[in-house]
Amino acid sequence: MSVPNPQAAKRRDWWRAAVGYEVYLRSFADGDGDGVGDLRGLLAHLEHLAWLGIDLVWITPFYPSPMADHGYDITDHCEVDPRYGTLGDLDAVIAAAHELGMRVVIDLVANHTSDQHPWFRASLAELHGSYRGYYLWRDGDADGGPPNNWVSYFGGPAWSRDPSSGQWWAHLFLPQQPDLDWSSPHVAAAFDRIVDFWLRRAVDGFRIDVAQGLSKHASLADNPRRSDPMPDDGPRQAFERFEHRYDIGQPENVAIFERWRALTEPYDAVLIGEVYLEPEAIGPYLRGHGLDLAFSFAFVDLPWDATAVSDALRATLRHLGPGSCWTQASHDEPRPPTRFGAGAVGRARALAITTLLAGMPGPLVLYQGEELGLEDGAVPADAAVDPMGGRDGCRTPIPWSTGPAWGFTTGRPWLPMDSWTASDTVEAQRDDSSSSLHRHRALLSTRRRIDQDAPVTWLGGSSIVAYRRADHLVAACVSDEPEVLEVPSGTWAIVFSTHATRRSTEVAGPSIGLRPAEAVILERRPAGSRSG
Ligand code: NOJ
Repeated sequence: MSVPNPQAAKRRDWWRAAVGYEVYLRSFADGDGDGVGDLRGLLAHLEHLAWLGIDLVWITPFYPSPMADHGYDITDHCEVDPRYGTLGDLDAVIAAAHELGMRVVIDLVANHTSDQHPWFRASLAELHGSYRGYYLWRDGDADGGPPNNWVSYFGGPAWSRDPSSGQWWAHLFLPQQPDLDWSSPHVAAAFDRIVDFWLRRAVDGFRIDVAQGLSKHASLADNPRRSDPMPDDGPRQAFERFEHRYDIGQPENVAIFERWRALTEPYDAVLIGEVYLEPEAIGPYLRGHGLDLAFSFAFVDLPWDATAVSDALRATLRHLGPGSCWTQASHDEPRPPTRFGAGAVGRARALAITTLLAGMPGPLVLYQGEELGLEDGAVPADAAVDPMGGRDGCRTPIPWSTGPAWGFTTGRPWLPMDSWTASDTVEAQRDDSSSSLHRHRALLSTRRRIDQDAPVTWLGGSSIVAYRRADHLVAACVSDEPEVLEVPSGTWAIVFSTHATRRSTEVAGPSIGLRPAEAVILERRPAGSRSG
Protein backbone atom coordinates (compact mmCIF):
# COMPACT_ATOMS: atom_id res chain seq x y z
CA MET A 1 0.00 0.00 0.00
CA SER A 2 1.14 3.51 -0.68
CA VAL A 3 0.59 6.86 1.00
CA PRO A 4 0.89 10.36 -0.48
CA ASN A 5 4.46 11.51 -0.59
CA PRO A 6 5.08 14.76 1.35
CA GLN A 7 8.24 15.41 -0.72
CA ALA A 8 6.27 15.11 -3.94
CA ALA A 9 6.49 18.76 -4.88
CA LYS A 10 10.28 18.51 -5.10
CA ARG A 11 10.31 15.36 -7.20
CA ARG A 12 7.33 16.04 -9.44
CA ASP A 13 9.23 15.55 -12.67
CA TRP A 14 11.17 12.35 -11.91
CA TRP A 15 10.11 11.10 -15.35
CA ARG A 16 11.87 13.78 -17.39
CA ALA A 17 15.05 11.79 -17.86
CA ALA A 18 13.37 8.39 -17.66
CA VAL A 19 13.51 5.60 -20.20
CA GLY A 20 10.23 3.73 -20.37
CA TYR A 21 9.40 0.30 -21.73
CA GLU A 22 6.02 -0.93 -22.85
CA VAL A 23 5.25 -4.46 -21.66
CA TYR A 24 2.51 -5.87 -23.87
CA LEU A 25 1.66 -8.37 -21.18
CA ARG A 26 0.09 -11.10 -23.36
CA SER A 27 3.32 -11.41 -25.32
CA PHE A 28 6.10 -10.67 -22.86
CA ALA A 29 6.61 -13.90 -20.89
CA ASP A 30 4.30 -16.69 -19.81
CA GLY A 31 4.68 -17.95 -16.25
CA ASP A 32 2.04 -20.69 -16.20
CA GLY A 33 2.26 -22.46 -19.55
CA ASP A 34 -1.11 -21.42 -20.99
CA GLY A 35 0.55 -19.70 -23.96
CA VAL A 36 -0.41 -16.19 -22.83
CA GLY A 37 2.04 -13.83 -21.12
CA ASP A 38 1.23 -12.97 -17.51
CA LEU A 39 2.38 -11.16 -14.38
CA ARG A 40 4.53 -14.01 -13.09
CA GLY A 41 6.27 -14.16 -16.44
CA LEU A 42 6.91 -10.43 -16.19
CA LEU A 43 8.20 -10.80 -12.63
CA ALA A 44 10.68 -13.43 -13.78
CA HIS A 45 12.10 -11.10 -16.44
CA LEU A 46 12.12 -7.72 -14.69
CA GLU A 47 15.85 -8.06 -14.25
CA HIS A 48 16.28 -7.95 -18.04
CA LEU A 49 14.65 -4.52 -18.06
CA ALA A 50 16.75 -3.20 -15.19
CA TRP A 51 19.91 -4.50 -16.91
CA LEU A 52 18.87 -2.78 -20.14
CA GLY A 53 18.58 0.57 -18.34
CA ILE A 54 14.82 0.98 -18.01
CA ASP A 55 13.37 3.34 -15.38
CA LEU A 56 9.66 3.01 -16.06
CA VAL A 57 7.66 -0.08 -17.01
CA TRP A 58 4.24 0.45 -18.60
CA ILE A 59 2.08 -2.68 -18.34
CA THR A 60 -0.83 -3.00 -20.80
CA PRO A 61 -4.26 -4.02 -19.39
CA PHE A 62 -4.33 -7.01 -17.02
CA TYR A 63 -7.94 -6.44 -15.93
CA PRO A 64 -10.75 -8.99 -16.19
CA SER A 65 -11.96 -8.93 -19.77
CA PRO A 66 -13.82 -11.00 -22.36
CA MET A 67 -10.79 -10.11 -24.58
CA ALA A 68 -12.78 -8.83 -27.53
CA ASP A 69 -9.94 -6.28 -27.89
CA HIS A 70 -7.32 -8.27 -25.94
CA GLY A 71 -7.96 -6.59 -22.62
CA TYR A 72 -8.92 -3.07 -23.73
CA ASP A 73 -12.49 -4.16 -22.98
CA ILE A 74 -12.67 -4.25 -19.20
CA THR A 75 -15.31 -5.68 -16.87
CA ASP A 76 -13.65 -4.67 -13.57
CA HIS A 77 -11.10 -1.87 -13.35
CA CYS A 78 -9.89 -2.90 -9.88
CA GLU A 79 -9.08 -6.59 -10.41
CA VAL A 80 -6.67 -8.83 -12.32
CA ASP A 81 -7.89 -11.33 -14.93
CA PRO A 82 -7.06 -14.87 -13.73
CA ARG A 83 -5.30 -15.49 -17.06
CA TYR A 84 -2.79 -12.80 -16.07
CA GLY A 85 -2.54 -13.69 -12.36
CA THR A 86 -3.83 -12.12 -9.17
CA LEU A 87 -3.72 -8.78 -7.40
CA GLY A 88 -1.01 -10.37 -5.26
CA ASP A 89 1.08 -11.07 -8.38
CA LEU A 90 0.71 -7.46 -9.41
CA ASP A 91 1.79 -6.30 -5.96
CA ALA A 92 4.83 -8.55 -6.33
CA VAL A 93 5.67 -7.04 -9.74
CA ILE A 94 5.37 -3.51 -8.39
CA ALA A 95 7.47 -4.30 -5.32
CA ALA A 96 10.17 -6.06 -7.36
CA ALA A 97 10.29 -3.25 -9.93
CA HIS A 98 10.68 -0.69 -7.14
CA GLU A 99 13.41 -2.80 -5.61
CA LEU A 100 15.23 -2.71 -8.98
CA GLY A 101 14.82 1.09 -9.17
CA MET A 102 12.02 1.05 -11.76
CA ARG A 103 8.56 2.62 -11.60
CA VAL A 104 5.35 1.01 -12.82
CA VAL A 105 2.70 2.69 -14.96
CA ILE A 106 -0.59 0.96 -15.75
CA ASP A 107 -3.23 1.50 -18.42
CA LEU A 108 -6.25 3.59 -17.47
CA VAL A 109 -8.97 2.68 -19.97
CA ALA A 110 -11.67 5.27 -19.37
CA ASN A 111 -13.13 5.95 -22.80
CA HIS A 112 -15.11 2.72 -22.78
CA THR A 113 -15.76 -0.47 -20.86
CA SER A 114 -16.61 -3.98 -22.01
CA ASP A 115 -20.23 -4.59 -22.95
CA GLN A 116 -20.05 -7.26 -20.22
CA HIS A 117 -19.20 -4.68 -17.54
CA PRO A 118 -21.89 -4.61 -14.82
CA TRP A 119 -22.49 -0.91 -15.58
CA PHE A 120 -23.31 -1.60 -19.22
CA ARG A 121 -25.42 -4.63 -18.42
CA ALA A 122 -27.40 -2.53 -15.95
CA SER A 123 -27.70 0.27 -18.51
CA LEU A 124 -29.08 -2.21 -21.06
CA ALA A 125 -31.59 -3.58 -18.60
CA GLU A 126 -33.02 -0.30 -17.28
CA LEU A 127 -34.15 2.27 -19.81
CA HIS A 128 -34.63 4.84 -17.05
CA GLY A 129 -32.20 3.46 -14.49
CA SER A 130 -29.23 5.40 -13.17
CA TYR A 131 -26.67 3.39 -15.20
CA ARG A 132 -28.29 4.39 -18.50
CA GLY A 133 -26.55 7.75 -18.14
CA TYR A 134 -23.11 6.13 -17.83
CA TYR A 135 -23.11 5.49 -21.58
CA LEU A 136 -24.09 7.42 -24.72
CA TRP A 137 -27.54 6.04 -25.44
CA ARG A 138 -29.46 7.92 -28.11
CA ASP A 139 -32.45 7.55 -30.44
CA GLY A 140 -31.70 6.92 -34.10
CA ASP A 141 -32.31 9.48 -36.84
CA ALA A 142 -35.64 9.98 -38.61
CA ASP A 143 -34.82 7.27 -41.19
CA GLY A 144 -34.09 4.66 -38.54
CA GLY A 145 -30.33 4.98 -38.96
CA PRO A 146 -27.71 5.78 -36.30
CA PRO A 147 -27.89 9.11 -34.41
CA ASN A 148 -25.03 10.66 -36.44
CA ASN A 149 -22.31 9.87 -39.01
CA TRP A 150 -19.48 9.04 -36.58
CA VAL A 151 -17.32 6.09 -37.53
CA SER A 152 -15.41 3.64 -35.35
CA TYR A 153 -11.59 3.52 -35.34
CA PHE A 154 -12.05 -0.17 -36.13
CA GLY A 155 -14.29 0.46 -39.17
CA GLY A 156 -18.02 0.88 -39.68
CA PRO A 157 -20.41 3.13 -37.78
CA ALA A 158 -19.61 4.17 -34.21
CA TRP A 159 -23.13 3.19 -33.16
CA SER A 160 -24.93 -0.11 -32.57
CA ARG A 161 -28.65 -0.60 -31.96
CA ASP A 162 -30.16 -2.43 -29.04
CA PRO A 163 -33.23 -4.19 -30.47
CA SER A 164 -35.09 -4.26 -27.18
CA SER A 165 -35.11 -0.49 -26.51
CA GLY A 166 -34.54 0.56 -30.13
CA GLN A 167 -31.87 3.01 -28.92
CA TRP A 168 -28.24 3.13 -30.09
CA TRP A 169 -25.03 3.09 -28.04
CA ALA A 170 -21.85 4.85 -29.13
CA HIS A 171 -18.53 3.05 -29.50
CA LEU A 172 -15.37 4.56 -30.99
CA PHE A 173 -14.01 0.99 -31.13
CA LEU A 174 -15.87 -2.35 -31.17
CA PRO A 175 -19.59 -2.62 -30.36
CA GLN A 176 -18.34 -4.68 -27.39
CA GLN A 177 -16.55 -1.52 -26.16
CA PRO A 178 -19.38 0.95 -25.36
CA ASP A 179 -18.17 4.53 -24.80
CA LEU A 180 -18.74 6.07 -21.38
CA ASP A 181 -20.50 9.41 -21.11
CA TRP A 182 -17.96 11.67 -19.41
CA SER A 183 -20.55 14.39 -18.84
CA SER A 184 -22.00 12.06 -16.16
CA PRO A 185 -20.81 12.97 -12.64
CA HIS A 186 -21.25 9.29 -11.71
CA VAL A 187 -18.69 8.22 -14.33
CA ALA A 188 -16.23 10.85 -13.14
CA ALA A 189 -16.69 9.82 -9.50
CA ALA A 190 -16.31 6.12 -10.34
CA PHE A 191 -12.97 6.81 -12.05
CA ASP A 192 -11.79 8.89 -9.10
CA ARG A 193 -12.22 5.77 -7.02
CA ILE A 194 -10.41 3.62 -9.60
CA VAL A 195 -7.45 6.02 -9.79
CA ASP A 196 -7.29 6.20 -6.01
CA PHE A 197 -7.45 2.39 -5.71
CA TRP A 198 -4.33 1.96 -7.86
CA LEU A 199 -2.41 4.85 -6.32
CA ARG A 200 -2.86 3.21 -2.94
CA ARG A 201 -1.49 0.00 -4.46
CA ALA A 202 1.69 1.92 -5.23
CA VAL A 203 1.51 2.32 -9.00
CA ASP A 204 3.60 5.24 -10.23
CA GLY A 205 1.26 6.53 -12.88
CA PHE A 206 -1.19 5.88 -15.66
CA ARG A 207 -1.08 5.63 -19.43
CA ILE A 208 -4.42 7.08 -20.46
CA ASP A 209 -5.95 5.08 -23.26
CA VAL A 210 -7.69 7.10 -26.02
CA ALA A 211 -7.11 10.35 -24.10
CA GLN A 212 -8.39 12.35 -27.10
CA GLY A 213 -11.76 10.58 -27.06
CA LEU A 214 -13.13 10.83 -23.53
CA SER A 215 -15.43 13.87 -23.89
CA LYS A 216 -17.79 14.12 -26.81
CA HIS A 217 -19.36 17.37 -27.99
CA ALA A 218 -22.74 17.77 -26.30
CA SER A 219 -24.47 18.28 -29.67
CA LEU A 220 -23.33 14.86 -30.96
CA ALA A 221 -23.46 16.58 -34.37
CA ASP A 222 -22.31 14.99 -37.64
CA ASN A 223 -18.58 15.29 -38.33
CA PRO A 224 -17.80 17.23 -41.53
CA ARG A 225 -16.40 15.09 -44.33
CA ARG A 226 -12.85 15.79 -45.51
CA SER A 227 -12.92 13.57 -48.57
CA ASP A 228 -15.03 10.93 -50.24
CA PRO A 229 -14.62 7.32 -49.20
CA MET A 230 -12.82 4.94 -51.55
CA PRO A 231 -13.84 1.31 -52.02
CA ASP A 232 -10.56 -0.10 -50.68
CA ASP A 233 -10.37 2.14 -47.60
CA GLY A 234 -9.25 0.30 -44.47
CA PRO A 235 -10.50 1.43 -41.02
CA ARG A 236 -7.74 4.06 -40.68
CA GLN A 237 -8.37 5.68 -44.05
CA ALA A 238 -12.14 5.64 -43.47
CA PHE A 239 -11.60 7.40 -40.14
CA GLU A 240 -9.27 9.99 -41.71
CA ARG A 241 -11.91 10.95 -44.26
CA PHE A 242 -13.71 12.94 -41.56
CA GLU A 243 -12.79 16.09 -39.72
CA HIS A 244 -13.24 14.88 -36.15
CA ARG A 245 -14.83 18.05 -34.86
CA TYR A 246 -17.36 16.54 -32.48
CA ASP A 247 -16.23 13.06 -31.44
CA ILE A 248 -12.58 13.50 -30.37
CA GLY A 249 -10.17 16.26 -29.33
CA GLN A 250 -12.71 18.16 -27.24
CA PRO A 251 -11.35 20.88 -24.88
CA GLU A 252 -13.43 19.36 -22.05
CA ASN A 253 -10.92 16.48 -21.89
CA VAL A 254 -8.60 18.82 -19.98
CA ALA A 255 -11.02 19.01 -17.05
CA ILE A 256 -10.85 15.22 -16.73
CA PHE A 257 -7.05 15.24 -16.76
CA GLU A 258 -7.05 18.01 -14.14
CA ARG A 259 -9.27 15.93 -11.94
CA TRP A 260 -6.89 12.97 -12.15
CA ARG A 261 -3.88 15.23 -11.72
CA ALA A 262 -5.27 16.44 -8.40
CA LEU A 263 -5.35 12.78 -7.32
CA THR A 264 -1.98 11.72 -8.73
CA GLU A 265 0.11 14.73 -7.69
CA PRO A 266 0.21 13.93 -3.97
CA TYR A 267 1.55 10.48 -4.88
CA ASP A 268 4.17 11.85 -7.24
CA ALA A 269 2.55 9.73 -9.99
CA VAL A 270 2.64 10.53 -13.70
CA LEU A 271 -0.20 10.91 -16.24
CA ILE A 272 0.84 9.92 -19.77
CA GLY A 273 -1.73 10.48 -22.50
CA GLU A 274 -2.18 8.27 -25.50
CA VAL A 275 -3.32 11.22 -27.58
CA TYR A 276 -3.79 10.43 -31.24
CA LEU A 277 -4.01 14.05 -32.47
CA GLU A 278 -1.68 16.35 -34.40
CA PRO A 279 1.11 17.77 -32.17
CA GLU A 280 -0.42 21.27 -32.18
CA ALA A 281 -3.69 19.87 -30.79
CA ILE A 282 -1.87 17.99 -28.02
CA GLY A 283 -0.11 21.08 -26.61
CA PRO A 284 -3.19 22.38 -24.74
CA TYR A 285 -3.62 19.02 -22.94
CA LEU A 286 -0.14 19.45 -21.44
CA ARG A 287 -0.47 23.01 -20.24
CA GLY A 288 -1.50 24.01 -16.71
CA HIS A 289 -2.60 21.05 -14.65
CA GLY A 290 -3.55 18.62 -17.40
CA LEU A 291 -1.44 15.68 -18.55
CA ASP A 292 2.19 15.43 -17.49
CA LEU A 293 3.23 13.74 -20.73
CA ALA A 294 1.85 12.67 -24.09
CA PHE A 295 3.17 10.12 -26.56
CA SER A 296 4.68 11.51 -29.76
CA PHE A 297 2.94 9.51 -32.46
CA ALA A 298 4.54 11.49 -35.29
CA PHE A 299 7.25 8.81 -35.41
CA VAL A 300 5.17 5.65 -35.66
CA ASP A 301 4.65 5.95 -39.41
CA LEU A 302 7.61 8.06 -40.42
CA PRO A 303 9.18 7.54 -43.86
CA TRP A 304 12.98 7.18 -44.18
CA ASP A 305 13.42 10.77 -45.26
CA ALA A 306 15.60 13.39 -43.56
CA THR A 307 13.14 16.25 -44.07
CA ALA A 308 10.24 14.22 -42.67
CA VAL A 309 12.32 13.15 -39.67
CA SER A 310 13.56 16.66 -39.00
CA ASP A 311 10.05 18.15 -39.36
CA ALA A 312 8.56 15.57 -36.97
CA LEU A 313 11.25 16.23 -34.35
CA ARG A 314 10.84 19.98 -34.60
CA ALA A 315 7.02 19.96 -34.53
CA THR A 316 6.93 17.58 -31.57
CA LEU A 317 9.49 19.60 -29.65
CA ARG A 318 7.68 22.85 -30.42
CA HIS A 319 4.24 21.67 -29.33
CA LEU A 320 4.98 19.05 -26.66
CA GLY A 321 8.44 20.15 -25.44
CA PRO A 322 9.74 18.05 -22.54
CA GLY A 323 6.15 16.82 -22.13
CA SER A 324 6.77 14.53 -25.08
CA CYS A 325 7.15 10.81 -24.51
CA TRP A 326 9.41 10.03 -27.47
CA THR A 327 8.40 6.79 -29.08
CA GLN A 328 8.28 5.11 -32.47
CA ALA A 329 6.60 1.77 -31.70
CA SER A 330 3.74 0.18 -29.77
CA HIS A 331 1.43 -2.82 -29.79
CA ASP A 332 -0.75 -0.92 -32.29
CA GLU A 333 1.78 -0.14 -35.01
CA PRO A 334 4.08 -2.10 -37.34
CA ARG A 335 7.51 -2.61 -35.77
CA PRO A 336 10.04 0.02 -36.95
CA PRO A 337 12.52 -2.37 -38.69
CA THR A 338 9.61 -3.75 -40.72
CA ARG A 339 8.42 -0.28 -41.69
CA PHE A 340 11.97 0.70 -42.64
CA GLY A 341 12.54 -2.12 -45.11
CA ALA A 342 13.30 -5.12 -42.88
CA GLY A 343 16.61 -6.97 -42.46
CA ALA A 344 19.83 -5.25 -41.46
CA VAL A 345 18.81 -2.05 -43.26
CA GLY A 346 15.47 -1.85 -41.45
CA ARG A 347 17.14 -2.46 -38.10
CA ALA A 348 19.84 0.14 -38.69
CA ARG A 349 17.33 2.80 -39.69
CA ALA A 350 15.13 2.07 -36.69
CA LEU A 351 18.07 2.40 -34.30
CA ALA A 352 19.16 5.66 -35.96
CA ILE A 353 15.70 7.12 -35.31
CA THR A 354 15.72 5.80 -31.73
CA THR A 355 19.04 7.60 -31.23
CA LEU A 356 17.55 10.88 -32.44
CA LEU A 357 14.60 10.41 -30.06
CA ALA A 358 16.86 9.41 -27.17
CA GLY A 359 18.70 12.73 -27.16
CA MET A 360 15.53 14.83 -26.95
CA PRO A 361 14.27 16.43 -23.73
CA GLY A 362 11.65 14.22 -22.08
CA PRO A 363 11.29 10.47 -21.63
CA LEU A 364 11.99 7.86 -24.29
CA VAL A 365 9.67 4.84 -24.40
CA LEU A 366 10.64 1.58 -26.08
CA TYR A 367 8.16 -1.10 -27.06
CA GLN A 368 9.10 -4.65 -26.04
CA GLY A 369 11.33 -6.27 -28.63
CA GLU A 370 12.62 -2.96 -30.01
CA GLU A 371 15.81 -3.58 -28.05
CA LEU A 372 16.21 -6.86 -29.98
CA GLY A 373 15.59 -5.22 -33.35
CA LEU A 374 12.58 -7.48 -33.87
CA GLU A 375 10.52 -7.21 -37.03
CA ASP A 376 6.82 -8.00 -37.17
CA GLY A 377 6.24 -11.73 -36.84
CA ALA A 378 4.46 -13.45 -39.71
CA VAL A 379 0.88 -14.33 -38.76
CA PRO A 380 -1.01 -16.40 -41.34
CA ALA A 381 -4.63 -15.48 -41.98
CA ASP A 382 -5.95 -18.51 -40.11
CA ALA A 383 -4.02 -17.48 -36.96
CA ALA A 384 -5.00 -13.77 -37.08
CA VAL A 385 -6.92 -12.56 -34.03
CA ASP A 386 -6.78 -8.75 -34.01
CA PRO A 387 -10.32 -7.34 -34.25
CA MET A 388 -9.06 -4.31 -36.18
CA GLY A 389 -6.73 -6.31 -38.41
CA GLY A 390 -3.07 -5.57 -38.97
CA ARG A 391 -1.83 -5.50 -35.37
CA ASP A 392 -0.97 -9.17 -34.80
CA GLY A 393 2.48 -8.95 -36.38
CA CYS A 394 3.79 -6.41 -33.86
CA ARG A 395 2.29 -8.43 -31.00
CA THR A 396 4.02 -11.78 -31.60
CA PRO A 397 5.71 -12.96 -28.36
CA ILE A 398 9.26 -12.19 -27.26
CA PRO A 399 11.96 -14.80 -28.02
CA TRP A 400 13.89 -15.24 -24.77
CA SER A 401 16.09 -18.24 -25.50
CA THR A 402 16.56 -21.14 -27.88
CA GLY A 403 14.30 -24.12 -27.25
CA PRO A 404 10.56 -24.69 -27.55
CA ALA A 405 8.50 -21.53 -28.11
CA TRP A 406 11.74 -19.58 -27.70
CA GLY A 407 11.45 -19.68 -23.91
CA PHE A 408 8.26 -17.58 -24.00
CA THR A 409 5.99 -20.38 -22.81
CA THR A 410 6.02 -24.08 -22.06
CA GLY A 411 2.68 -24.27 -23.87
CA ARG A 412 1.47 -23.15 -27.28
CA PRO A 413 1.97 -19.41 -27.85
CA TRP A 414 -1.24 -17.46 -28.50
CA LEU A 415 0.33 -16.01 -31.68
CA PRO A 416 2.82 -17.90 -33.88
CA MET A 417 6.52 -17.39 -33.18
CA ASP A 418 7.78 -18.97 -36.39
CA SER A 419 9.57 -15.85 -37.62
CA TRP A 420 12.28 -15.84 -34.95
CA THR A 421 15.79 -17.24 -35.26
CA ALA A 422 18.35 -17.96 -32.54
CA SER A 423 20.04 -14.60 -33.10
CA ASP A 424 16.77 -12.80 -32.24
CA THR A 425 16.74 -14.16 -28.68
CA VAL A 426 17.61 -12.21 -25.57
CA GLU A 427 19.96 -15.04 -24.60
CA ALA A 428 22.02 -14.85 -27.80
CA GLN A 429 22.04 -11.06 -27.89
CA ARG A 430 23.23 -10.75 -24.31
CA ASP A 431 26.25 -12.85 -25.28
CA ASP A 432 27.06 -10.77 -28.36
CA SER A 433 28.47 -7.33 -27.66
CA SER A 434 27.64 -6.17 -31.19
CA SER A 435 23.96 -7.13 -30.90
CA SER A 436 20.99 -4.83 -31.18
CA LEU A 437 20.39 -5.42 -27.47
CA HIS A 438 23.86 -4.18 -26.51
CA ARG A 439 23.59 -1.18 -28.85
CA HIS A 440 20.33 -0.18 -27.20
CA ARG A 441 21.83 -0.63 -23.75
CA ALA A 442 24.80 1.52 -24.69
CA LEU A 443 22.47 4.17 -26.11
CA LEU A 444 20.36 4.32 -22.94
CA SER A 445 23.43 4.64 -20.79
CA THR A 446 24.88 7.40 -23.03
CA ARG A 447 21.56 9.26 -22.86
CA ARG A 448 22.10 9.66 -19.11
CA ARG A 449 25.12 11.87 -19.79
CA ILE A 450 23.02 14.49 -21.56
CA ASP A 451 22.01 17.49 -19.45
CA GLN A 452 18.21 17.31 -19.34
CA ASP A 453 17.98 21.09 -18.86
CA ALA A 454 20.03 21.90 -21.95
CA PRO A 455 18.08 23.48 -24.82
CA VAL A 456 18.06 21.94 -28.31
CA THR A 457 19.98 23.76 -31.07
CA TRP A 458 19.46 22.45 -34.58
CA LEU A 459 22.46 21.65 -36.77
CA GLY A 460 22.94 19.44 -39.78
CA GLY A 461 22.68 19.50 -43.52
CA SER A 462 20.44 18.01 -46.13
CA SER A 463 20.57 14.33 -45.21
CA ILE A 464 22.02 14.68 -41.74
CA VAL A 465 19.55 15.32 -38.94
CA ALA A 466 21.51 16.75 -36.04
CA TYR A 467 21.10 18.82 -32.94
CA ARG A 468 23.18 19.95 -30.03
CA ARG A 469 22.36 20.05 -26.33
CA ALA A 470 25.12 21.83 -24.41
CA ASP A 471 28.05 19.41 -24.42
CA HIS A 472 26.34 16.74 -26.53
CA LEU A 473 25.65 16.48 -30.21
CA VAL A 474 23.25 13.91 -31.63
CA ALA A 475 23.33 13.22 -35.36
CA ALA A 476 21.94 10.66 -37.79
CA CYS A 477 22.62 10.07 -41.45
CA VAL A 478 19.07 9.68 -42.76
CA SER A 479 20.18 8.61 -46.20
CA ASP A 480 21.28 5.61 -48.21
CA GLU A 481 24.58 7.35 -48.99
CA PRO A 482 27.39 8.28 -46.61
CA GLU A 483 27.27 11.91 -45.50
CA VAL A 484 29.60 14.34 -43.77
CA LEU A 485 28.71 15.76 -40.38
CA GLU A 486 30.25 19.16 -39.67
CA VAL A 487 31.41 19.22 -36.06
CA PRO A 488 31.33 22.54 -34.18
CA SER A 489 34.64 23.94 -32.95
CA GLY A 490 36.12 22.42 -29.82
CA THR A 491 37.31 18.97 -28.89
CA TRP A 492 34.70 16.28 -29.38
CA ALA A 493 34.62 12.54 -28.79
CA ILE A 494 32.23 9.94 -30.13
CA VAL A 495 30.59 8.41 -27.07
CA PHE A 496 28.01 6.34 -28.96
CA SER A 497 27.51 5.00 -32.47
CA THR A 498 24.73 2.79 -33.76
CA HIS A 499 27.48 0.88 -35.60
CA ALA A 500 29.24 -1.38 -33.12
CA THR A 501 32.26 -1.53 -35.41
CA ARG A 502 33.11 2.17 -35.05
CA ARG A 503 36.11 2.16 -32.79
CA SER A 504 37.57 5.64 -32.79
CA THR A 505 36.37 7.82 -29.98
CA GLU A 506 38.16 11.11 -30.70
CA VAL A 507 36.97 13.30 -33.54
CA ALA A 508 40.05 14.24 -35.57
CA GLY A 509 39.11 17.31 -37.57
CA PRO A 510 36.15 19.56 -38.23
CA SER A 511 33.92 16.84 -39.66
CA ILE A 512 33.27 13.12 -39.58
CA GLY A 513 31.84 10.79 -42.18
CA LEU A 514 28.66 8.98 -41.21
CA ARG A 515 27.66 5.78 -42.93
CA PRO A 516 24.11 5.28 -44.25
CA ALA A 517 21.74 5.05 -41.27
CA GLU A 518 24.53 5.61 -38.79
CA ALA A 519 23.71 7.77 -35.78
CA VAL A 520 26.21 9.05 -33.25
CA ILE A 521 26.36 10.97 -30.02
CA LEU A 522 29.36 13.22 -29.55
CA GLU A 523 30.52 14.72 -26.29
CA ARG A 524 32.53 17.89 -25.94
CA ARG A 525 35.74 17.53 -24.00
CA PRO A 526 37.33 20.37 -22.06
CA ALA A 527 39.95 22.12 -24.22
CA GLY A 528 43.29 20.33 -24.24
CA SER A 529 41.94 17.09 -22.76
CA ARG A 530 42.32 13.67 -24.28
CA SER A 531 39.33 11.44 -24.79
CA GLY A 532 39.24 7.97 -23.34
C1 NOJ B 1 -5.53 2.10 -27.80
C2 NOJ B 1 -4.89 0.80 -27.47
O1 NOJ B 1 -3.50 0.96 -27.51
C3 NOJ B 1 -5.40 -0.19 -28.49
O2 NOJ B 1 -4.69 -1.40 -28.45
C4 NOJ B 1 -6.87 -0.39 -28.25
O3 NOJ B 1 -7.40 -1.23 -29.26
C5 NOJ B 1 -7.62 0.94 -28.27
N1 NOJ B 1 -6.93 1.99 -27.56
C6 NOJ B 1 -8.98 0.79 -27.65
O4 NOJ B 1 -8.89 0.72 -26.26
